Formats: sequence, C-alpha cells, structure tokens
Amino acid sequence: MTPAERDTFFAALEARHLANLTRSEFTRAVRALSVRYVERRGQLPTRSPLDSAGKRAAFGLFYAPLHLLTVDAVVGSVTTGDPPTRIIDLGCGTGVCAAAWAMAGPDPRASIDGYDLHPWALDEARWNWQTLGLTGRAVRLDAVAAMERTVKGRGSLSGTGIVAGWTVNELEAPGRARLLETISAAISRGASFLLIEPLARGAAPWWDDWTRALHRQGAVAGDHKFDVDLPSRLAEFSDAAGFANRTLGARVLYVGPADL
Ligand SMILES: C[S@@+](CC[C@H](N)C(=O)[O-])C[C@H]1O[C@@H](n2cnc3c(N)ncnc32)[C@H](O)[C@@H]1O
Repeated sequence: MTPAERDTFFAALEARHLANLTRSEFTRAVRALSVRYVERRGQLPTRSPLDSAGKRAAFGLFYAPLHLLTVDAVVGSVTTGDPPTRIIDLGCGTGVCAAAWAMAGPDPRASIDGYDLHPWALDEARWNWQTLGLTGRAVRLDAVAAMERTVKGRGSLSGTGIVAGWTVNELEAPGRARLLETISAAISRGASFLLIEPLARGAAPWWDDWTRALHRQGAVAGDHKFDVDLPSRLAEFSDAAGFANRTLGARVLYVGPADL
C-alpha cells in the first residue's frame, strides 16, 4: 500500500464515520470500545461490542486503520514465498487484514473471501474493499463453518492465504479446536496462514497450543512491535482517547506456502 493510497483511504473513512458524530462523541466511543475489548474481554463470545453507532464508528475509523497499518507491517516482516492470489479473511470485521495482505502483493491484487457474523461489519468490509479498489466477497458465515467448507473439497489450496486477525480469541473453545484442525488441513493442501492477536498474554491463553500444533507444518511465532509515525488524525484520536502508546504491536503466527 502506498502512502498516497493510505492517506486517500483514511480521508474517505473520516468523511464516512464522522458525518453524524462530534469529535468528542467519537473519542468517548473509542474509549468505550477499548473497555469492551480489554476489561470485558470475557464477554466477547456472547456479547458483540459493536452495539452502538459510536462504537461501530470507533471500530471503523480508529481500530480498522490501526489494524490495517499493523498487518501491513506484519506482512512486510514475516511473509515468505509467492504472495497469495486469494485471501480468506476469518472474522473479517471491516476487512482490513485481508486488504493489507492483498495490497502488499502485485497487481492484479488477490481476491478476498471474508467471513463474519456481524452484518454491519460485512457492509463495512465491502465498502472498504471497494474504496481500496480490491475485489472481495463478504459472507455472513461462522468462521469455523467457512473453514470446514473450504477443506471439504479435495483440490489444492496453493495460492490461498488464510488470515485470522484479532478474531480467534473471540471463539469459544470447541469452535477454536475445530478451526485449528481445518487450518492445519488447509496448510497441508498448500495454503499459507497468518494469525494475529493482541500482545497481551491473557488475550489468547490457547496461543502456545496453536504454536505447538502448527510447528511441524513450519509455523513461526513471535511478538512484533513496530515504531510507526501514525497519520496525524489517528495520533490525534489516540491522544484524545488517552492512549499513551504510539507503537503498533501484535502476536503473530505465520505458516508460509509449502511447495507441493
Ligand atoms: C476484534 S474483531 C477483528 C476484525 C478484523 N479481523 C480486524 O482485524 O479488524 C473480531 C471479529 O470477529 C468476528 N467474529 C467473532 N466470532 C466469529 C465467528 N464465530 N465467526 C465469524 N466471525 C466472528 C466479530 O464479528 C468481529 O468482526
């Protein structure tokens, strides 16, 4: 993604999400959404944090660009082999994880299949992909069911990249176990896999089990921190919401495409 593409996209997001909110309403919503993701993390599997217009705007205009920038940096530092030509985005939310991965690749950019349960998020993903000039399909389907469907066929999955960004921690344990099995099956058929979660240790207590399970398929896992100059608007929102940290960070697990 070029700086010009990024700036045009962020300006479009701002026009879209600040149309009906004052700045102070928006920064309050950023804080409220952060509380839901951090202090009330345990409620995520049963209660959507996107239950008000303000929180949805905070997700679309604050967290989406932060995730886009984080995944852009992660892809630049961990991915190997040929870039994917098709990306499956599990729990796609606003679609920015797949977008960042697709935009790091050559033209024509990878097409995207995004899966999420939240109708607002799916509409937002469609709008984001279209605004970024990407081809994507956003489908309302459980991430585990989407992967079960993907590995049901027998064909090769080489050229397919699977990304799950800040999503697997929202699944209940049985679904998470089924997801791991299907992802492992997809990797053995040639797919690459990018898993991203928050740095906070408590957010993903299952992390070491996934790392061990995928290690024999070539998984590389670690914590990543990036010093970035946040675009001025994002830095402003971050300051206004009281976040001191300007570093982007994530726990990342990556399995590159196998030569089959
Ligand atoms: C924290 S958001 C991350 C969204 C996006 N990947 C990003 O990085 O911005 C988690 C997303 O997972 C979705 N989600 C939670 N459980 C899901 C499930 N079982 N199947 C599909 N999506 C799910 C939520 O609706 C939400 O959009």
